Amino acid sequence: KNDVKKVLFSNEEVVNRTKELADQINKDYAGSTPILVGLLKGSVPFMAELLKNVDMFCQTEYMVVSSYQGTQTTGEVKIVKDIDVSIKDRDILIVEDIVDTGITLNTIVKLLKHRGARSVEIACLLNKEARRVVPVDVKYTGFFIPDEFVIGFGLDYNEMYRNLPYVGVLKEEVYQRRNA
Ligand code: IMP
Repeated sequence: KNDVKKVLFSNEEVVNRTKELADQINKDYAGSTPILVGLLKGSVPFMAELLKNVDMFCQTEYMVVSSYQGTQTTGEVKIVKDIDVSIKDRDILIVEDIVDTGITLNTIVKLLKHRGARSVEIACLLNKEARRVVPVDVKYTGFFIPDEFVIGFGLDYNEMYRNLPYVGVLKEEVYQRRNA
């Protein structure tokens, strides 16, 4: 906690906002049995919070996706763990911690549509729109945030801080310390 410069969204704010998103999702998917696809590892706390409030028949699946950033404008997305259920004619809701350049989700949305999903939508806790390199249509956004590196509520820096119960900005000195 000493490494956090400031808290952007408290646990209460995240929990309340996620409830609002779930209410909307409940309305939008009435009559459907969607598959919620969480992208590991960052989506875990957000997914758990959503699931507490999603009030309908639904399935949950998880993918592990890693994104290699070669230059500012190109990135290679690798599926480390895929889902192993058919998504043909199914409504898919991808659950993600943050949309940054958009490269990860742009690729995953195309892939799932190519597999015959009836619809593919995105729910993300955080959205850094200013950083977008490729277009991504995000239907459910928790919070829009400026271009700052954030941690907590699933988000990591070097695999740490995912367990913080709130979303915060990391102190610059932590980068400097680790990079030194
Ligand atoms: P994108 O493909 O650039 O949209 O990357 C999304 C992924 O980058 C997220 O799932 C995160 O793992 C990571 N990421 C982007 N911004 C941040 C941040 O501020 N903190 C922690 N991880 C981030």
